[in-house]
Amino acid sequence: MTNGFETQLLTPTTGGVAQAAAMLRAGALVSFPTETVYGLGGDATNDRAVARIFEAKERPRFNPLIAHVPDLDAARCIAVVEGQAQDLAQAFWPGPLTLVLPLRDDAGLCELVTAGLPTIAVRVPAHPLAQALLTAVERPVVAPSANPSGRISPTTADHVMAGLAGRIEAVLDGGACGVGVESTIVGFDPDPVLLRPGGLPTEALGGALGTPVARRDESAAINAPGQMASHYAPRAALRMNAETRQSGERLLGFGPVEADLNLSAAGDLVEAAANLFRMLHEMDRGGDAPIAVSPIPDTGLGRAINDRLRRAAAPR
Ligand code: TXA
Ligand code: MG
Repeated sequence: MTNGFETQLLTPTTGGVAQAAAMLRAGALVSFPTETVYGLGGDATNDRAVARIFEAKERPRFNPLIAHVPDLDAARCIAVVEGQAQDLAQAFWPGPLTLVLPLRDDAGLCELVTAGLPTIAVRVPAHPLAQALLTAVERPVVAPSANPSGRISPTTADHVMAGLAGRIEAVLDGGACGVGVESTIVGFDPDPVLLRPGGLPTEALGGALGTPVARRDESAAINAPGQMASHYAPRAALRMNAETRQSGERLLGFGPVEADLNLSAAGDLVEAAANLFRMLHEMDRGGDAPIAVSPIPDTGLGRAINDRLRRAAAPR
């Protein structure tokens, strides 16, 4: 799949950073270097940009994304950073550590970023280009690793180009990444739990806290946001592939149908993905009447949308 546009390679200069920041603010997708791996960046407050990240990566699922900010103050605008989380942030930010924190009500991020979860993964990267870029964008930037789903994470601009050229607007070329593996992810249960080993050694975490950090229990729910079948389903029953609305049902439409809410009247999968979580929540607030959902083509982003709808439709 290519979107048929040329991916610009931006130089690691003041001008290149300014251009990357302007593009991100305008809703474009720009890959940028961090000290761990290259991220596939998009404006975390722009529904369409976030949806396009999943499309560009061909991710079959809406996994929650990491929001990147330049410093602890910016992190506090979107998340609650207190107690041991604050201790870790002060010890290791900027650096290869991601913290999963309570999402602030007024964070202003798209629901697709958190996949509807009440928590947000936050990272303050140390790479000077990432720092300069995030400071210039003045908004949180979500960035999964800049590789097509299922492929190896990129540690050079060439790797990014090989996987994503034609699907994203630009790559900010910062040479090779120093760390080369993804950030360490820590969640709170409420005690710190290692969710993903990564660039920051586990021993360092324990050293800063004065007590070792437990590895997550593989069976624990925190390990798998969105993986449980009915996770974050609306309260009302949900029926997929509904060609027509049956009596008493509310219709969440797709394409040119008369519906209570329409994911995309134009039948555009990016628009539908951008609207999905917000509209499911809106339907949830709207009552208990069963929800019928129009058929969504099972191609491109449609696969991730259908995956989420299947979870919402699962018996519970
Ligand atoms: O080094 C890195 O962390 C890179 C660079 C670009 O910053 N980014 C990265 O992002 O590895 P990604 O999307 O490939 O990995 C994000 C991980 C996923 O496994 C996701 O499930 C987890 O973070 N995650 C995100 N939000 C979460 C949340 N609210 N609760 C639990 N896990 C979360
Ligand atoms: Mg990845």
